[in-house]
Amino acid sequence: MNVYVRQLANHEGETVQLRGWNAQKRDSKGLVFMVFRDGTGFCQAVIDVQVVGEEVFEIAKRLPQESSLSITGKVVKDERQIGGYEIHVTALEVIAEAEPYPITPKEHGVDFLMDHRHLWLRSRRQWAIMRVRNRIIFAIHEFFQSRGFIQMDAPIFTGNACEGTTTLFETDFYGEPAYLSQSGQLYGEAMAMAHGLIYTFGPTFRAEKSKTRRHLSEFWMIEPEMAFYDLQMDMDLIEDFIRYVVTKVLEDCKNELQILERDTTYLEKVREPFVRIKYEDAVRIIKGEVPVSGRTSFDMLEEEKQKLLAERESAEKEIAEREAKIKSGTLKKGEVNFNQSRIDKLKAQLTDIAERLQAVEQWIHSARNFVRGNDFGGGDETVLTKMFGQPVMVYNWPQAVKAFYMKEDEQEPGYAKGVDLLAPEGYGEIVGGGERETDLEKLKRKIQEHQLPMSAFEWYLDLRRFGNVPHSGFGLGLERLVAWICGLQHIRETIPFPRSYGRLLP
Ligand code: 4AD
Ligand code: MG
Repeated sequence: MNVYVRQLANHEGETVQLRGWNAQKRDSKGLVFMVFRDGTGFCQAVIDVQVVGEEVFEIAKRLPQESSLSITGKVVKDERQIGGYEIHVTALEVIAEAEPYPITPKEHGVDFLMDHRHLWLRSRRQWAIMRVRNRIIFAIHEFFQSRGFIQMDAPIFTGNACEGTTTLFETDFYGEPAYLSQSGQLYGEAMAMAHGLIYTFGPTFRAEKSKTRRHLSEFWMIEPEMAFYDLQMDMDLIEDFIRYVVTKVLEDCKNELQILERDTTYLEKVREPFVRIKYEDAVRIIKGEVPVSGRTSFDMLEEEKQKLLAERESAEKEIAEREAKIKSGTLKKGEVNFNQSRIDKLKAQLTDIAERLQAVEQWIHSARNFVRGNDFGGGDETVLTKMFGQPVMVYNWPQAVKAFYMKEDEQEPGYAKGVDLLAPEGYGEIVGGGERETDLEKLKRKIQEHQLPMSAFEWYLDLRRFGNVPHSGFGLGLERLVAWICGLQHIRETIPFPRSYGRLLP
């Protein structure tokens, strides 16, 4: 019977057939231990010469990595093994023998792996990330659909900018300039006036001429838009939404998060209420003028620095001790290897600690020099969220740093009713949104101030002329959320085939 690895628990003790790939293998004394993968999961396949005979055993022993094959064998529970079950193989058939596989179990540089993204996707970590991404996408639809939101598809060719003119990708649309969509929001607003509650889920494009760990040129954005919602209701929805999605992943992707070695402490915190503070209060905290739970930003950064220095000291000490042991010449070969691999690990840790120390210095520098009224940089976001250790919503931003469509706060002129949700652990802004300007004259003025062509926005202004109502919305960057939930250092691993400055292939 053909089964999938993910179903093995239902077939304990039975003999089953599986089709998949040889992800990795080693052999010793008449046994081949293969990490077998079939797309739904990984398990160990044990091929015993006594069982399968010389001929099949030799085939298994020589089978190149990533060859495809079908195996038949008994399902045996073994909690120590990958996936918790192993297959005691009785028959094996090669489907296609692979050429020498470029990605081997040894370490590869990131550029090499990115160049082989089409193959890298098969590796265990990448597999886990894509599964989490899939669960997130499903949870997003579940959340909105169950609340009566209508999913809409906004156009990708657009005639106007939405999020400023500096990140536009221009293209040729039958001889006219067109831009790849930076956001579906303006179209979402139109649709919300037809359906009340809507959300878009589509690709968006930003020409970001720099390589950062948080920016892609092409990413997927989820943009709900709600008629009759004010900023408070918008923030409530953001909070419920993120809590729902993160909780679903925690419940359903335990295996994946384990593969990713994700410490879920901060993710669990989404169950508690999120912090909500105004921009000006956030600035006071960043600049160390106001403490949080008795400590200022500079106290926190100093603590962080001391912790890293202590980690560095202990790693250096351990390296010295192990090196001395090896030098003494009294160790057996196995012990030397063990100590050496531990030393290599510690040295990698030291590089990491050095980088983190440098980052802390930078944060201290930017916290000291932050200019009130500016937008937050990644460092400022990190400092702020580190003060709370949970998601933080910053609202009421200076109008100058936000988009033209943001509603001015009538109680606080000069401030826009915009909100950013900052994820903890240094992940920063994952959601941006707010209440929309409904005053036709103010909107026209803002379009002029932002030097946008009025004619391209006439249709948008109609939304204020006909059936104008208060409304709000937000945009979630899917890849930023995947990066945070999976605990990834870099956004490039969150999407099957990333597009970013300098990366168009594969
Ligand atoms: O803050 P942004 O620019 O807001 C908008 O586009 C609004 N129109 C959303 C709305 O209110 N409907 O982008 C929203 C989110 C960011 O918080 C971030 O998560 C993500 O989109 N994002 C990016 N993700 C990856 N790479 C980039 N270059 C991104 N730019 C924005
Ligand atoms: Mg933003």
